[in-house]
Amino acid sequence: MSTSSKINANHRKRWGYSFQWTDEHLSREEIDRLRSNYDDLGSNALEKFQAIVAETKVEHLAGAPSPAKPDLYTVLKNNYEDNGILEEFWNELHSVPDFVDWKQIERAQSFFARYAVANSTAFALQGFIRENSASPGIAEVFARTGGFSIKNLLSRVIETFTWLIQVTYSLESIQPGGEGHTSTIRVRLLHASVRQRILKLARSRSEYFPIEKYGAPVNDLDSLHAISLFCCSPMWDGFPKVGIYPNKQEIEDFIALFRYVAYLTGTPTEYWETPEKAKAVMETMLLYELDPNKTSKILAHNFIKWLEDQPPAYLSRSFMEAGCRWMNGHAMCDALGLGRPSLYYYLVFAGHNVIVASLAYSQKLIPALDGFMIRYFRKTLYDAVTDNAGLAGGNGPFDFKFVPDLEQKFGKEVGLLEGRGRKKLPRPVEHVFFGAFLFACLVGMLLIFAGVKLFLSLSGN
Ligand code: HEM
Repeated sequence: MSTSSKINANHRKRWGYSFQWTDEHLSREEIDRLRSNYDDLGSNALEKFQAIVAETKVEHLAGAPSPAKPDLYTVLKNNYEDNGILEEFWNELHSVPDFVDWKQIERAQSFFARYAVANSTAFALQGFIRENSASPGIAEVFARTGGFSIKNLLSRVIETFTWLIQVTYSLESIQPGGEGHTSTIRVRLLHASVRQRILKLARSRSEYFPIEKYGAPVNDLDSLHAISLFCCSPMWDGFPKVGIYPNKQEIEDFIALFRYVAYLTGTPTEYWETPEKAKAVMETMLLYELDPNKTSKILAHNFIKWLEDQPPAYLSRSFMEAGCRWMNGHAMCDALGLGRPSLYYYLVFAGHNVIVASLAYSQKLIPALDGFMIRYFRKTLYDAVTDNAGLAGGNGPFDFKFVPDLEQKFGKEVGLLEGRGRKKLPRPVEHVFFGAFLFACLVGMLLIFAGVKLFLSLSGN
């Protein structure tokens, strides 16, 4: 770091990330205000649904067979007309805000599929491990709803990834009435029910969830943080660390897609007006919101434990710890209690980056390859999440599965996965990554050798 940046009063550094504080960054007062607000419309709509569903149940008590658990989106569709709050909710979700440019949204969706591997790496290693686990308020909500306990992780990760695939799959999917659009409405209602349930329990026992400290569950600040982990962290932190540098247009497009997602999830949208504002949200979260505690350690441990040795990749714990350290830095990973793997695993992760970045540059150079990869990743990921839909559990899409109760909080789990895995067998994916690393070293050495030879011949030796 240069002396000038050290004495620059606006220079900030946190968790290994340096930036300049600007007027776009969020002040403490603004953070407190956002923490004390949440999606009122979503919460009010949920209460209305519950009243409608309760009435329907009473009608069914008159002898008819008990109905299946109602899907809230279907209830909304069938009841919104002339129904005050539900009509307002429906109209908001089905009118398209002025800032939406469908061409731009479509480009952003291609961007997601183009860099699907890098996006998935950033989603798992930064989104889940760092932004979710290390943010005390968000981690507490997850711990209270069991979503990070190993036995529930599979469904949580698959469903969140399914949602991400749906909103990036096609324009029709994110447009009103499309699959991604309706899933986002379900998710908004799911958040409202998480909030309602936890607030109710906290009212009967205040230490259950410290509202004065963390705000209501899924408050505006939490939601800004979550949107930022999906769209900002990859752009400005995750991708550069694997060797990909999105251009201005790609950044503007991706932020615009998530501005629309913010609109649909009842999250403030003005923070995504420009890439500068969006970046300032991410940096403010890094500075003020990431503060790993005991719960964070448990969540990070369980997440890695769950990913370890999962087919088809059979990745080792050491490889994932090296990946986490590469993406999030030692200070954060030490605070999360992650192990320090040997040098070999960092080289394996470097090999992963060689493959991901080489593919990205080849796609930039060869448009036909780019088109092919976008179609390939889109279809493969969509098929993978829909084939696995049965694994997700619950009673329907984006259903409230882990009803919190006063005693429930999930701890570190080890026993559950004992005996799983193929620790003694070779790990083909990691070997391919290591091979890529060796190959890159060889190419590098050949290039240096050729450069030196050229220099010597030009200088007449
Ligand atoms: C605004 C951006 C957000 C998006 C796009 C989003 C997306 C999702 C998705 C797709 C699911 C369904 C997965 C599942 O059923 O397990 C989900 C569930 C959940 N989300 Fe979010 N989320 C966001 C913000 C948050 C925040 C800020 C919190 C916590 C403070 C949170 C807490 C939860 C919980 C607890 C569930 C699971 C409820 C259950 O299934 O029992 N979400 N979210």
